[in-house]
Amino acid sequence: MTTENENNKLNEDHYEIDTLTNDKLIKGHEYDGIQELDNELPSWWKWLFILSIVFAAVYMIRLWVFRADDLMQAKEFQTEMADASARQAENNAGEADFELVLLEDAGSLASGKETWDKICAVCHLADGGGLVGPNMTDNYWIHGNKLEDMWAVVENGVLEKGMISYKDQLSKQQRLEVISFIKLEIVGSTPANPKEPQGELYE
Ligand code: HEC
Repeated sequence: MTTENENNKLNEDHYEIDTLTNDKLIKGHEYDGIQELDNELPSWWKWLFILSIVFAAVYMIRLWVFRADDLMQAKEFQTEMADASARQAENNAGEADFELVLLEDAGSLASGKETWDKICAVCHLADGGGLVGPNMTDNYWIHGNKLEDMWAVVENGVLEKGMISYKDQLSKQQRLEVISFIKLEIVGSTPANPKEPQGELYE
């Protein structure tokens, strides 16, 4: 047991009171004139500390004792793999009935024109006369004039010439619509300022 006096004595050995501010400073703990206070920790901090210990305990028990589903990585991995293959099956189902054939219905051609005006016309011009990209109205083609040839250009792009791939930006349906529009409505039309022919003549 320490008496009141001894306690005060102990405190005096450990602390000194700043004469100006009355702050309680730790003795012999000074660097470059900077001393440390010995304040109580704020209660919000102490509660946060206690709560973090409680959280950790609950977490550990759920993980090690109950092996909770949401904490098990193997389980999480299985769920995500199952989700992924479900999504893949869904995508493949959509692609199974996709066919690369010329679309001739008015609806497809109208939405092909929409894509053309919005995206392609910047380089190929709305009337297809050509600007950065080649003239699409003539029978000269750099990469061929078949549906498959045009499909390949739009799908893969010709990056070094400035034609990007539209694989991610446009759906398969949209790409087929815009190519059908080119074939049926741009090729053979008469643009205002046709660019000189590029590529080979296809009859
Ligand atoms: C940033 C400019 C640019 C945009 C936008 C663009 N193209 Fe092109 N395109 C080009 C260039 C440049 C070429 C020529 C590539 C080459 O020289 O090999 C080209 C070539 C093509 C060809 C092949 C032409 C040939 O002679 O073989 C097709 C088909 C084509 N583009 C379709 C499209 C479609 C469809 C769109 C819109 C979805 C589009 N392009 C948007 C620049 C563009």
